[in-house]
Amino acid sequence: MANLLSLNDLSVTEINDILARAEQIHEMNEEGWFAPKNTLVANLFYEPSTRTRFSFETAEKRLGYQVLNFSSKTSSALKGESLYDTVKTMEAIGANAVVIRHQDIGYYRALEGIGISVLNAGDGAGDHPTQALLDLLTLRQEFLLLKGLTVAIIGDLRYSRVAKSDAEVLTRLGCRVLLSGPEEWRNESLPGTYVTVDEAIETAEAVIMLRIQHERHEQAMNMTKEEYHTRYGLTLERSMRMKPQSIIMHPGPINRGVELDNELVESSRSRYFKQIKNGVSARMASLEWALSSKKIATVTERVAEK
Ligand code: CP
Repeated sequence: MANLLSLNDLSVTEINDILARAEQIHEMNEEGWFAPKNTLVANLFYEPSTRTRFSFETAEKRLGYQVLNFSSKTSSALKGESLYDTVKTMEAIGANAVVIRHQDIGYYRALEGIGISVLNAGDGAGDHPTQALLDLLTLRQEFLLLKGLTVAIIGDLRYSRVAKSDAEVLTRLGCRVLLSGPEEWRNESLPGTYVTVDEAIETAEAVIMLRIQHERHEQAMNMTKEEYHTRYGLTLERSMRMKPQSIIMHPGPINRGVELDNELVESSRSRYFKQIKNGVSARMASLEWALSSKKIATVTERVAEK
């Protein structure tokens, strides 16, 4: 059993094994899936989600697992129960793994002593490892080699966990990462080279547009949505300057007409819905990996390393 908290905890070999497995899952029926009888997985979402929540649930059901869905709005979290006690309760009920989305960066540090797998479905502005895996899967389907590929990540770099997980793992896999967006959302801790929005869009083979993380901002944006679109968005005009084979990606949900022109969302360059589809197999492979791993990567050990 293992945890999947950040891709920084996994070797490149482990990341490639999960991706290869996700690709295999596309081709397979349930006989080839890792589905020990009576596996119980609890999905604990303390923040809103559509893609991650439902693709994890779909992945779990396809694998034949039993599924518990927890909502912080209708659980004893409302009475003040801690994350630790909630996860310990799931463990006592018999869950083999928990999938957690939580607003606090590194929430899993509070889970020392938990004896079941924890899969991180997003920790505040921290990490989003399974989004990065599905993004890698999408890129592998498009390009022969990730090494040497130029990927642009544009927008809310400071508050986006997708930006962090993607930039870090793409860099480890040998991609050239270009970063761009409003100056006030610049994030010096991300690996990559800062360029103008125009240069990023014209140079990259894959352009990842980020959702503006309004819910994490301390102050309202100092420009209108229209201004943001013109200055930092993927407009129709900018899309015409992309390389012929370049693709558009977005983790979702999209603010249509802000990060991305409405017409581009379902255009031939867009892989937006492909990414969502890939989320199911990436999460099936992640669950299989976490539940079958011989790795003893417990939360306790990760906390001790920090
Ligand atoms: N990409 C992503 O995490 O989407 P949701 O917030 O809908 O899960």
